[in-house]
Amino acid sequence: MKNRRNFLKTSLVISTGIVTTNTIPAFASTKSFPNGIIYTKDNPGKWEKKVAGHIPIITIDGKQVTIETKHGMSEKHYIVKHTVVSGNGEVLGEKIFYPTDKNAVSVFKLEEKHTVLYATSFCNKHDLWVAEFSI
Ligand SMILES: [Fe+2]
Repeated sequence: MKNRRNFLKTSLVISTGIVTTNTIPAFASTKSFPNGIIYTKDNPGKWEKKVAGHIPIITIDGKQVTIETKHGMSEKHYIVKHTVVSGNGEVLGEKIFYPTDKNAVSVFKLEEKHTVLYATSFCNKHDLWVAEFSI
């Protein structure tokens, strides 16, 4: 019984560590993102032929960040959302797209510089893609 309690405590601590990202980055880099949940240029998993159309492309101009996903937009298949997330998990900006949008481009004006930022792009068919950058 004691071993079971310790197992549950350990599991809870591990789970909390992954979910709670306010102060400690959950992942050291995009290389440690879990397979099959988050896709990156270096770890496209089952979508290896889909990288070019799904990886967020980041353009930086001072503190202005532009994210583009070179993906078509149609009612059945489109980019749903972009976000910019800080290294400690704070969502700094987000934009929702609709199938009627011409393209998946979003612009964010950040208030300060960051050494670790993540750009996300979510496709309704090909899941969540992430690219790391800094400003
Ligand atoms: Fe897609």
